[in-house]
Amino acid sequence: MATVYLARDLKHGRLVAIKVLRAELAHVLGPERFLREIEIAARLQHPLILAVFDSGAATPPSEDSARCLWYAMPFIAGESLRDRLNREKQLSVEEAVRIACEVAQALGCAHAQGVIHRDIKPENILLSDGHALVADFGIAKALVTAGDQRLTETGWSMGTPPYMSPEQAQGLENIDHRSDIYAVGCMIFEMISGRPPFVGNSVGKVIMQHIQSPPPKLKELRDDAPEALDEIIRQALAKDRAARFQTADAMTEALRLVAAAETLERALPSGTRNKVTLPTPAAASVAPAPAAVTTPAPNRDRRLLIAVGALAFVAIAALVFVLLTRK
Ligand SMILES: Nc1ncnc2c1ncn2[C@@H]1O[C@H](COP(=O)(O)OP(=O)(O)O)[C@@H](O)[C@H]1O
Ligand SMILES: [Mg+2]
Repeated sequence: MATVYLARDLKHGRLVAIKVLRAELAHVLGPERFLREIEIAARLQHPLILAVFDSGAATPPSEDSARCLWYAMPFIAGESLRDRLNREKQLSVEEAVRIACEVAQALGCAHAQGVIHRDIKPENILLSDGHALVADFGIAKALVTAGDQRLTETGWSMGTPPYMSPEQAQGLENIDHRSDIYAVGCMIFEMISGRPPFVGNSVGKVIMQHIQSPPPKLKELRDDAPEALDEIIRQALAKDRAARFQTADAMTEALRLVAAAETLERALPSGTRNKVTLPTPAAASVAPAPAAVTTPAPNRDRRLLIAVGALAFVAIAALVFVLLTRK
């Protein structure tokens, strides 16, 4: 679909990554559509979203070839989440939850500005200085609005099968931010279990499972997977969009609860482990309004989350105090 080059920005003396679309794709897209979507993506400013430095449509050497569509972004010296998973297969629960939390935070910012990613996958999460950066906003949208038969011939499909929401898998047109939430759920599943929720020896089989099958339980694939994460997966991967987390912010809050419980559990003496149970994050997120991107979590649930967070904090502080003052 594209080639990413490592380049030097001569004016500012810095390394940048330049993404150049393949000629056949550039031809189908055309410069206007591409540059419009990149411009919208470039307006997103968030520490966990990979910025766009510049973009353009370079004039080709010969008149009959398509203009060369490109955009430049900061070069991230780290690795992608895909590289990481290829190497380690499973991440610690703590790290998986932190990465998912950061991706959900980045999405919360983008969604609030009406930008949906549509192609959240480990390849588009770059890990840098211990943080997750979301890359490639705007590209999938440009391709979707092209909506052209010739796109299929370029080998591009709407989304990436292992992370495709049921509505994307069915080719529905009114994709919304909840497809991104579904994809984050698939990534959490993979970071914990070492495989995406739905696997098969053909794209069709994977797609059918997204549409019809419930995901396996994490516990069946990994002993130390917290039950609260299964609840998050259940909600993120609901077939019906109205049953999912309704906002990325609601998902972030639910993930923070799991992170707090994990911290607390690690701080407890080993004999008392596995006793930390928090209320399931279910209540934090199932809001009836299906479409509004900015729907806040209900106040009651917010208060519950704050109360549980405060309790966890007090418990950790008490434990640290006891350990420090013990002779
Ligand atoms: N800004 C960047 N800095 C460093 N590496 C990058 C950057 N953007 C992309 N890459 C690398 O280039 C690879 C190809 O990116 P891309 O063309 O977007 O395809 P995909 O996301 O499907 O892997 C990524 O997997 C990543 O390893
Ligand atoms: Mg990419």
